[in-house]
Amino acid sequence: MRIVSVANEAGSAGKTSAVVNLGAIAAEKGLEVLVMDLDAQANATTWLGVTEPEKTISDILRLEATIPDALVATVVDNLWLIPSSADMTGTVLELGRVMGPEQRLRVALEKIPSPGPDLVILDCPGVMNLVTLSALVASHKVITVAQPTLKELQGVSRLESTVRDVSNLYRPDLTINAVIPSIVPQVRQPDGKDGPATSGGGAVYAQALAMLQAEWGELCTPPVRRSVRVPEAYAQQTPLNLHAPRDPVTTDYRNIYDFLQKLEVMP
Ligand SMILES: Nc1ncnc2c1ncn2[C@@H]1O[C@H](COP(=O)(O)OP(=O)(O)OP(=O)(O)O)[C@@H](O)[C@H]1O
Ligand SMILES: [Mg+2]
Repeated sequence: MRIVSVANEAGSAGKTSAVVNLGAIAAEKGLEVLVMDLDAQANATTWLGVTEPEKTISDILRLEATIPDALVATVVDNLWLIPSSADMTGTVLELGRVMGPEQRLRVALEKIPSPGPDLVILDCPGVMNLVTLSALVASHKVITVAQPTLKELQGVSRLESTVRDVSNLYRPDLTINAVIPSIVPQVRQPDGKDGPATSGGGAVYAQALAMLQAEWGELCTPPVRRSVRVPEAYAQQTPLNLHAPRDPVTTDYRNIYDFLQKLEVMP
């Protein structure tokens, strides 16, 4: 069982989009996949078509349910979900008053009877709180997602320093294993193909993308282009590989999955 966190200490980076779409692509490849929604906004839960779940991640973190108790099937074969809901906001506050709160998710995952899922993807909230910390403590691998703009790149730096602290305190092997540049505007290039804008209004993204690629080298995946298909698929509560199987943005996520597999981040 591979446990992968998708985290960034900046909101609206494209984390949930990566979790849902990479999870659905892994499931399409035949893996048993569990997506855990750790965010009170419950965007992964909504995207995967689950409304009014009986049990949620809150119940698990309050030790009132196990992962198998809260597991629900989704619109995608082989893709399972631990849903979230708005009461995660209260749960995060309560966690501050219990013993070893940051270990609860790791312990709950260890208790999954074997054979567990092949892949567990943790969709973290866009802030550093006890839930993001528990996700990092429970994870084998960490992926971050960043829009190539200065604000987002600062979020990656903050995550890097948090991961370093978690590595010193809990998991010596923990590090950021990959960076996905996301929501990158595309323009038609001289060769007739689409690519990141390098001049005019889009140049600022190209500069930040180049910075990200220079800093992260082979850990920087190919980018996810900006596409209306993404919010559209969310509204349809269907992952991109089912909503728009041949769309270029779906191909971006497929290429990223293959890239992450080569890096041995994804199984
Ligand atoms: N490739 C894309 N093209 C266009 N819009 C996108 C793309 N990826 C994500 N978005 C939109 O950007 C917004 C943020 O995306 P997403 O929810 O995946 O980010 P997040 O990092 O999970 O945010 P949060 O920190 O709020 O959880 C959403 O409205 C989503 O529809
Ligand atoms: Mg999100």
